[in-house]
Formats: sequence, C-alpha cells, structure tokens
Amino acid sequence: MTTPHLNVRNLSAGYGRARVLFDIDLTVHPGTIACVMGRNGVGKTTLLNTIAGLITPTTGTITHTGTDITTLAPHQRTRRGIAYAPQGHDTFAPLTVAENLHVAHQATRRNRPDLIDAALERFPRLKPLLGRKAGLLSGGQAQQLAIARALVTDPDLLILDEPTEGIQPNIVAEIETAITDTAAQGITVLLVEQYLDVALRLADTITVIDAGRVIHTGPRTELTHRSAHALMAI
Ligand SMILES: Nc1ncnc2c1ncn2[C@@H]1O[C@H](COP(=O)(O)OP(=O)(O)OP(=O)(O)O)[C@@H](O)[C@H]1O
Ligand SMILES: [Mg+2]
Repeated sequence: MTTPHLNVRNLSAGYGRARVLFDIDLTVHPGTIACVMGRNGVGKTTLLNTIAGLITPTTGTITHTGTDITTLAPHQRTRRGIAYAPQGHDTFAPLTVAENLHVAHQATRRNRPDLIDAALERFPRLKPLLGRKAGLLSGGQAQQLAIARALVTDPDLLILDEPTEGIQPNIVAEIETAITDTAAQGITVLLVEQYLDVALRLADTITVIDAGRVIHTGPRTELTHRSAHALMAI
C-alpha cells in the first residue's frame, strides 16, 4: 500500500462546547479526487477547516504524506503543499486579480512566476480581468480566482469547499474541467460538493457525512445515482 496523501483518524472537533465532528476517518490517496458530501450543516466545512489548521481538533490526528501535521499552523500546512479555497470564494476585494495572485504566491516565499502563468492557463477567463478589483468580479469569476489563488501556492493537495455553489452552469463546467485537469497533473484534490451529478462525475472516492459522522465511504464506482441520493437524504 502506498502512503495516503492525507490520513485523518478519529478526528473530533467543534465550537466551544458544541461538538460538530465525531471520530471522523478519511483517507485520500495520491493523485485522486476525494469528494465529501452531506446535507447542510452536517460539518463538512468544519472538517475542511480542521484539516487546514483553522480549527484545533479535540481528538484525533491528521497526517500529510506520512507526517503528523495535527498541531501545525495553517501557514505551515500551506508551505507543506496544502492549499485551501474556503466556501464562499473569499478573495481580497480591494486588490486586483493580478495582486490577489501575487500576494498568495508571495506568501509561500517561492519565486515561481510560472505558477501564476499556469493558474491563468487553467482559468483563461481571468486573463482579461487581471487589472480588475476582485470585489467587482461576478460570483463565478471570484470562484475561479479563489481556486487560482490556491494553485499559485504550488500545492500537492488542493482542498475546495463547494466550488460550484451558486454558480451558473457554464462556469460550473469550466470549474469541473479545471479540477479534472489539476488532478490529471498529479495534484490530489479533496472536495466538498453539494451537487450529486458533479460529485459523481469528478470523484474517485465519496465520503458521506451526516450529523458529524461518516456514514459511507468508498470508491465512486460503488454508488449509483439512486444509492448516493438515498445516502444524502438520510
Ligand atoms: N463558527 C461557528 N461557531 C459555532 N457553530 C458553528 C460555527 N460554524 C459552524 N457552526 C455549526 O457547526 C455545524 C456544522 O457547520 P458546517 O459549516 O461545518 O456545516 P456544512 O456541512 O459545511 O454546511 P453547509 O452545507 O451549509 O456548508 C452547524 O450546526 C453550524 O451551525
Ligand atoms: Mg459548508
């Protein structure tokens, strides 16, 4: 067996006394697209925030390429190659598209302008918008910028929280292609995706969470549209 790219074991986390995640196990293998699904409020974002280091777990461990990263700060995880595009496509609104990409790239302390070129090749729609303030972008453009910002940090693991939420269908298709191409390039992807069709097209493995617990995990091929729908409706 190869070392998992990401290995979450027995993870519990919450907010103050409110426990949200209970003994979560999640294994993501190198070069795969792992999709986490579940209804609203079941703890998907809390899980990704904990993996990114924004929330401290109450129990459990997170390993990245075999190294325990459970206590690392978010920026240390970024430098290890973990990039995170949070839910709601946050960008630096007062900065231009170009500045957004440069600031994200500089934070990694690398000098790889080719990463910015590659991110723009992945999202050609951003090229004519380089001088525009991020706060003036449409939702779809802002989402593409949020993913591009993650890519310029040279990740080996890209974490995306609902990149297609509230986005018009033609842009959803572009984002799907960008995710597939990113994975084909060898970058592992951990994705929270609400739309069943998108998840079933993209994912190699699907993990379903309900009320903070994993209720299903396995290869995408184990699920039909109907069985996946049934899991989501529990
Ligand atoms: N900052 C916070 N403080 C307290 N409770 C929170 C906080 N953020 C989320 N919660 C609660 O934790 C639970 C899980 O929320 P989370 O955002 O992880 O769910 P989710 O599965 O990502 O939902 P969605 O599909 O709506 O994005 C919810 O009950 C939510 O109200
Ligand atoms: Mg969420």
